[in-house]
Amino acid sequence: MNRTSLYFIYKCTLLLSAGYICCCCENDSYDDTLIIKPNGRVALPAELSAGISTNFMSSSKAYDTEASWVTGANAIRFVSGDKLYDDSRVSGSAIGGGLGPVHAGHSCGSCHKNAGRTKPTLFTDGGSGNYGFSSMLVYITRKNGAFFQNYGRVLHDQAIYGVKPEGKLKATYAGTEYEFPDGEKYALITPSYEITEWYADSIRPADLNITVRIPLRHVGMGQIMALDLDELQQLAAQSNYPEYGISGKLNYIVERGVKQIGVSGNKAQHADLTVELGFSSDMGVTSDRYPEEIAEGQAQMMGFSQWGAQISTRDMEDVDLYMQSLGVPARRNVTDKTVLKGEANFYKAKCHLCHTVTLHTRKRGTQLLNGTQLPWLGGQTIHPYSDFLLHDMGKELDDSYVSGLAMGCEWRTTPLWGIGLQEKVNGHSHFLHDGRARNLTEAIMWHGGEGEVSRGIFKKMSKEDRNALITFLNSL
Ligand code: HEC
Ligand code: HEC
Repeated sequence: MNRTSLYFIYKCTLLLSAGYICCCCENDSYDDTLIIKPNGRVALPAELSAGISTNFMSSSKAYDTEASWVTGANAIRFVSGDKLYDDSRVSGSAIGGGLGPVHAGHSCGSCHKNAGRTKPTLFTDGGSGNYGFSSMLVYITRKNGAFFQNYGRVLHDQAIYGVKPEGKLKATYAGTEYEFPDGEKYALITPSYEITEWYADSIRPADLNITVRIPLRHVGMGQIMALDLDELQQLAAQSNYPEYGISGKLNYIVERGVKQIGVSGNKAQHADLTVELGFSSDMGVTSDRYPEEIAEGQAQMMGFSQWGAQISTRDMEDVDLYMQSLGVPARRNVTDKTVLKGEANFYKAKCHLCHTVTLHTRKRGTQLLNGTQLPWLGGQTIHPYSDFLLHDMGKELDDSYVSGLAMGCEWRTTPLWGIGLQEKVNGHSHFLHDGRARNLTEAIMWHGGEGEVSRGIFKKMSKEDRNALITFLNSL
C-alpha cells in the first residue's frame, strides 16, 4: 500500500457496507476514493469500472446487485423497484395487473433477465413464430418511415386471453463461411424477417420495413444517466479520424418538447431510462404519461381498453432508482499476461477510437424521474468502453430505420463494460443490436463502415493475438 492510500484511509470519514467501500465526503469528487475489495485488498484502478459503484461480483447476479452506497430509504426503494421490474404483470385491474391487451413482454425482467439480455428465441426457434415469447422488440414502419395506423412502432406479438397478437415474427438465416488469412474458419449468419399471422391483412410486404432488437444489458445505466454531457460534446468534436475512416456524432432527440442528447438505446434514441415507455409500449401498462392503451385504434380493443394509470408514477420512480443504483461489475484478471496482451491489441486495432475507455460523470450525479438526487453517481471516473456516439457501421448492419439523427446504418457504440459476464448472467453469447453475432469474434467481423479498418486489423492478426483480444473483452 502506498503513501497516498494510507493518507486516504486516515482521511476516511465514512465506512460503508462492511468496509468494502471507504469514501471521503469532503467535496464533490470521489475520484481519490480508496476502495477495498471483499478479499481485503485495495482495488487497482483498472478494476474499477465505475468508481464507487463498482461491484466485485462475477456470478449470474453481477448485473443485478445494488451498489454498496444503496442504504436506508434508497435500499427500500431499490427492493421495491427490483420487484416491480421482475414481477410478471397479469391482465385485469388488480394490483400488478394492466398487462396488454397486446404486449411484447410481461415484465421488464422477462426481456432483461438479471438486468441483462434474455436469450433471444430468434436463433433457436426462428422468431416468435408459434413458439411463444421471444424477448425481442420488433419495430415496423412503412418504407417511407411512417407508422402503420393502429399498430404504432412496436409489433406486439403477444396478447392476453381473447385478443389476437398483432402479428408474429418469422426469422430465417443465410449463413456464409469465411476464413481468416491464417486459415481459421468463421461463419456469419444474415437474418431476414417476415411478419406472419397479421391481426389485420391491410399491410403489404412491399411497403414494410422490419427491424429487430434484442435487449441491451443494463450495466451502468446510472452512470450513463450521469454522463458529463460537455465531455461527450468534446468527444463528438474530436471524433474525426480520416486516416481510419471514423467520425462519430451525437444523437439529438426531442422528448417532451425538449431537445436533448440521446445516450441510451441502440441508436442513442433516448435521453432517459424509458421506464414509462417500457411499461406502456412494451407491456401495455398505462400510466399518467401514457394513459391510453397501445393499439387503441384496433377494433379488437373495444371492451378491453380503458383509460387511466395502471402503474403509478411513484412506482415507476422506484424502477428508475433500481436501474440507476445497480453496481457495475469490476474487471477481472487485469494483470493476467494474455489479458494485457489483448488490451494492447484492442488499442492496436483502434477499437478504442469508438469504444472509449475512460469517461467521467458530471459533478452532481443525476436526477430520477421526479428529481430525487443520487449524489454517489457524480464526480466518478468510469470505464464504459463507449463514446455514446453514432457511427456508420456499413451496409450490412443498415436497418433502414431512422431514430432522431441516426440513419439506418448508424448505431451507438455499445458500451462493453460487463460484456465478459453476459454468458454467466444470461446463458448465451448473442451480440449486436439484433443478436446476429453468436460470439465476440462474429461481433467484430460484422463491423463495417467506420468499423472496417478495425475489423481489417483484427482479421490480419495471428490467431494468438485475436484470441488474446477476445480474452481481454472477456475481462470487461
Ligand atoms: C419485449 C422485451 C422488452 C421488455 C418487456 C422491456 N424491454 Fe427494455 N429493451 C428491450 C430491447 C429490445 C431494448 C433495445 C431497444 C433499442 O435500442 O431499440 C431495450 C432497451 C432498454 C433500455 C436502454 C438500455 C441501454 O443500455 O441503453 C432500458 C433502460 C430499458 N430497456 C428498460 C426497460 C424497462 C424499465 C422495462 C420495463 C418497464 C423494459 N425495458 C421492458 C426489450 C424489452
Ligand atoms: C467506428 C466505431 C467502432 C469501432 C472502431 C469498433 N466498434 Fe465495436 N461497435 C461499434 C458499434 C456502433 C457497435 C454496435 C453495432 C450494432 O449493434 O449493430 C459495436 C458493437 C461491438 C460489440 C458488440 C457489443 C454487444 O454487446 O452487442 C463488440 C463486442 C465490439 N463492438 C467490439 C469491438 C472491437 C473488439 C473493436 C476493435 C477490433 C471494435 N469493436 C471497433 C462501434 C465501433
